[in-house]
Amino acid sequence: MARLNQKFIGAVAAAVLVAGGAHSADVEVLHWWTSGGEAAALNVLKQDLEDQGIGWNDMPVAGGGGEQAMTVLRARVTAGNAPTAVQMLGFDILDWAAQGALANLNDVAEQEGWDAVVPTALQAFAKHDGKWISAPVNVHSTNWVWANKALLDSHGISAPDSWEEFTAAVEKLAAAGVTPIAFGGQPWQEATAFDAVVMSTGGPSFYKSAFIDLNENALGSETMKEAFDRMAFIRAHVDDNFSGRDWNLATAMVINGEAAFQMMGDWAKGEFLNAGKNPGSDFLCFRFPGTAGQVTFNADQFAMFDQGGTVSAEQAALASAILSPSFQSAFNVVKGSVPARTDVSDADFDACGKQGMKDLAAAASSGNLFGSMAHGHAAPAAVKNAVYDVVTAHFNGEYDSETAVEELVSAISIAQ
Ligand code: BGC
Repeated sequence: MARLNQKFIGAVAAAVLVAGGAHSADVEVLHWWTSGGEAAALNVLKQDLEDQGIGWNDMPVAGGGGEQAMTVLRARVTAGNAPTAVQMLGFDILDWAAQGALANLNDVAEQEGWDAVVPTALQAFAKHDGKWISAPVNVHSTNWVWANKALLDSHGISAPDSWEEFTAAVEKLAAAGVTPIAFGGQPWQEATAFDAVVMSTGGPSFYKSAFIDLNENALGSETMKEAFDRMAFIRAHVDDNFSGRDWNLATAMVINGEAAFQMMGDWAKGEFLNAGKNPGSDFLCFRFPGTAGQVTFNADQFAMFDQGGTVSAEQAALASAILSPSFQSAFNVVKGSVPARTDVSDADFDACGKQGMKDLAAAASSGNLFGSMAHGHAAPAAVKNAVYDVVTAHFNGEYDSETAVEELVSAISIAQ
């Protein structure tokens, strides 16, 4: 709560009041899809429901990673006024399920055969105690870089494969007076970059032992110190106004040629598409240098809050619409993510989307698919927030890398 300001607390209170007016045949949907690209994707879902005669009562709460949305959700549930459906990530879903707050979606899941088509890595967060408790919309991944192609071309730079090639490209751009890295200084964005940096610095087994197993030796290692040093390199190559900047404004810097690279999840692609840009010619997408073949993922899901025993007709319709193969294609083409079903054709996806689908399948079968720490799929919220705090303090110069490693070990141990 310490990070929340008065304005935000006011917004929470307003949210609780506004939601009281929902019509019962509507679905009230709490989500954090507020950027241009996200809103365009959300419209695909709204339209789908409207075509079925179900009204949409929108409850947007800005803030990537969903931290603010989850705060609003807690306030709503405490006030006895839970929304019908809530965008949620990973461990948060399991947490609400364990509290008995979520509706059982087994009827619709059985009827539509979700067990056979939703990837196992997602089922781990969509089922609790043998019951389906959320409907997965997509799979995003956080180890991507987005680049302005014309800017790279004019400096003779191609997509870097390794950290060394990346630092060379960044230094070349900086020497030419170009802002190398578009960055938004918010804890969740710093943590998003950290996902990829940790994977790149230590490799997949290091990522797993540090972030999934929360192994103290890995968390406190020289490799982790090197990861913080790499974060310091990134910090040294952002512009002066990075602090507090929203992620989509950082994406806009790359779109407009004001900066070369943004390291961000593939929701960034939604912004490029929304601005009429094309992959390959206007912008490049490539895996964070040193993470080819590996994927740190997060899947957006909609959990339905139990409105008194059974799932309502509107909730069942929403869940069914979300899992339909045609919706999965139409939505994810716009959103930048890839489908949450293994049987959707990649025909309508652009080159980045096709690569995303291929990478996901390959990483799943080679054992290189891991949940994103920054986006709630590696560890529960308390641990995630501890990582946010340490990464942010280091990024803003409060800790050197050695101190950051010590603080990471102790903050994670306290959070468990
Ligand atoms: C969500 C994405 C969203 C991004 C930025 C992530 O946590 O999974 O769907 O686009 O935050 O808002």
